[in-house]
Amino acid sequence: MFKASVYTQRRKRLKEQIGSGLALFLGNEESPMNYPANPYHFRQDSSFLYFFGLDYPGLAGVVDVEEDRDIIFGDDVTIEDIIWMGDQPLLKDRALKAGVEETVPSNTLEDTLRKAIQKGRKVHFLPPYRQETVIKLSHLLGIHNNLVKDYVSQALIKEVVAQRSIKIQEEIEEMERALDVSYEMYTTAMKMARSGVYEREIVGRMEGIALSAGCHMAFPTILTVNGQTLHNHYHGNMLEKGRLVVCDSGAESPMHYASDITRTIPVDGEFTERQKEIYEIVLETQMTAIQSIKPNVNYRDIHIQAAKTIASGLKGLGLIKGDVDEAVKNGVHAMFFPHGLGHQIGLDVHDMEDLGENFVGYDEKYERSEQFGLAYLRFAKELQAGFVVTVEPGIYFIPALIDKWRAENKFPEFIDYDKAEGYKDFGGIRIEDDVLVTKDGSRVLGKPIPKTIQELADIAES
Ligand code: GLY
Ligand code: MN
Repeated sequence: MFKASVYTQRRKRLKEQIGSGLALFLGNEESPMNYPANPYHFRQDSSFLYFFGLDYPGLAGVVDVEEDRDIIFGDDVTIEDIIWMGDQPLLKDRALKAGVEETVPSNTLEDTLRKAIQKGRKVHFLPPYRQETVIKLSHLLGIHNNLVKDYVSQALIKEVVAQRSIKIQEEIEEMERALDVSYEMYTTAMKMARSGVYEREIVGRMEGIALSAGCHMAFPTILTVNGQTLHNHYHGNMLEKGRLVVCDSGAESPMHYASDITRTIPVDGEFTERQKEIYEIVLETQMTAIQSIKPNVNYRDIHIQAAKTIASGLKGLGLIKGDVDEAVKNGVHAMFFPHGLGHQIGLDVHDMEDLGENFVGYDEKYERSEQFGLAYLRFAKELQAGFVVTVEPGIYFIPALIDKWRAENKFPEFIDYDKAEGYKDFGGIRIEDDVLVTKDGSRVLGKPIPKTIQELADIAES
């Protein structure tokens, strides 16, 4: 945990900003895998962690604005818990670590909330993403399950997004801890990516590195020779010379801060000429985008610039024709680059996505586009010092998408479909780093992980 004053300060600001009522943060419960006593690895709710820091199931936190109280609802362990799970510190001692002096039994939460509601006070809560939390909120607040989502507090969402978007030094250090692990994972994967090896062997080694460092995975690992499928979780293919391996993975530090790195690794360390051409476009796009990152620039513009770099590179190869600016304005590039340039990252790999993508990535100034491709941009708004964002352009040849657009005769003036046919066996390339917005620019977090063609050849040989 961070020091207690970090959490106290966060709750103090929360009270000042939401102005009135109670803010309710429900921690997560154990989640059974296949029978009640066999749970998935426990993952605390990220906003609960942010304001209360306690990494245990079965807790709730209340921040009472008018009465200026912070309360943790929970129970001490019973003798049965101790027999199966060992002794645990008392709740009051755990709560003090988060600067909370008031702890009460969990069965008093309903009464506290109902009394507040009877007095006409507002109970602010965040959108639930687990069904059991919906049921719990429904029960605690007397709202029908189907209506819970209509009562979430926009004021609380906006304040949580405002606070969690700006990372403090301690949080950056935690993310760099996860990135140190990513460095080990990726340099190992690069050495292992030889013909005859199965994808799952590399995944196993990478995830083992994370676990042995006391980390978990921030999301299911993408590692595939079929990188044209953006979130491909199948790991059963054997690597063959001439193929590319897209590897997109993240470690989650012991305090639950994420890393999110993508590298595209040529099998046996060697790109073909055709792969090199596409790889250089993606790399140039990523490096140019990183250089553009600084406060007050909006990420949508950097995304559009990245789309133009990609379109211009593809024009150089004859895949795109005509005026690049016009092509990008029409969304032509999205046949090759159908996703957004990046997202915020922090306690969640897609930070705060549970609170609603549009609250995190958009605001009054930046409305989400409906254009294919641009619509997937998770984060568009103006950058501020302290934000951490991913920068992850890619080029993909998705046979079904090429066929669909060709059949629809979409943009024949901009796309050379005959040429695109020749790339249907190519796969995809994506390169991703995590970037901190600083006062006057940006800093790529973590130790540099090999990404130039030369660096990838060198590490494969080492
Ligand atoms: N790293 C997976 C994603 O950003 O969607
Ligand atoms: Mn990402």
